[in-house]
Amino acid sequence: MHPARWSSMNAEEIVGTAGVARRAVSSAESERASRAWWDADADDYLDEHARDIGETAFVWCPENLREDDAQLLGAPDELRGKRVLEVGCGSAPCSRWLAAHGARPVGLDLSSSMLRHATAANRRAGIEVPLVQAGAEHLPFADASFDVACSAFGAIPFVAEPGLVMREVARVLRPGGRFVFAVNHPVRWVFPDDPGPAGLTVGQSYFDRTPYLEVDAHGAATYVEHHRTLGDRVRDVVGAGLVLEDLVEPEWPEGHERIWGQWSPLRGRLLPGTAIFVTRRP
Ligand SMILES: C[S@@+](CC[C@H](N)C(=O)[O-])C[C@H]1O[C@@H](n2cnc3c(N)ncnc32)[C@H](O)[C@@H]1O
Repeated sequence: MHPARWSSMNAEEIVGTAGVARRAVSSAESERASRAWWDADADDYLDEHARDIGETAFVWCPENLREDDAQLLGAPDELRGKRVLEVGCGSAPCSRWLAAHGARPVGLDLSSSMLRHATAANRRAGIEVPLVQAGAEHLPFADASFDVACSAFGAIPFVAEPGLVMREVARVLRPGGRFVFAVNHPVRWVFPDDPGPAGLTVGQSYFDRTPYLEVDAHGAATYVEHHRTLGDRVRDVVGAGLVLEDLVEPEWPEGHERIWGQWSPLRGRLLPGTAIFVTRRP
């Protein structure tokens, strides 16, 4: 499910993962599991993906689409001076890229370990990005306090109520503000998380929204992913009062051979792996 899952034995040991389950899971349990998981996994995740995400780069997805080229948040001169909220910033390479381009980003994440890495990377880069520890379903910011918001696989796939995240982001955006977020492409849900040929055979229903969990010996969630169909995601966006301007499905680039968890050249040439929603508060 998660890009780093198969290489994170240390995190699984720390959180006590004993098996997998499929069941409904509340916002509170999802948030508790995600905080513990990302705290336990931050070191391994960043060891494994430092090369993919960089320290001051804005990489939207394993297909290596970069904001320098895609300009989904607007032309670089439009970002200058803008207050930008990054939701689920992790070690905050995207926020540092934004700051280096003259924006005024704030990075928000649930995990203190991820934010510890972000602080260290800020220091190394000499770029001071303000960091806030909070869950994405309850943003601790005033109404209309940001010009732009973004998220590259941060928070949204892991929350029980992504519609609430959309409403919260819409609330903190100023009118006219853009919110662009990247998530697993919903079609990937039906396939096993395997970058090889086994990941090309349908194993479950696209319409089954039952969350994927890893659980400890008592059945409590240690890792959670929530599925939304494409239509669900559109309804979450529209229900929050945002306008959907584009849906970007990055294609696997010629010559890009990097395997990132379930993302691979084999699957990337056949199937979309990422969906990027470009939305705006009217
Ligand atoms: C796959 S990482 C992506 C991080 C970063 N965008 C990157 O490219 O490295 C997912 C991030 O989402 C954060 N996260 C998960 N659930 C969250 C929630 N409910 N609220 C805020 N952040 C959350 C995790 O702590 C983690 O840092």
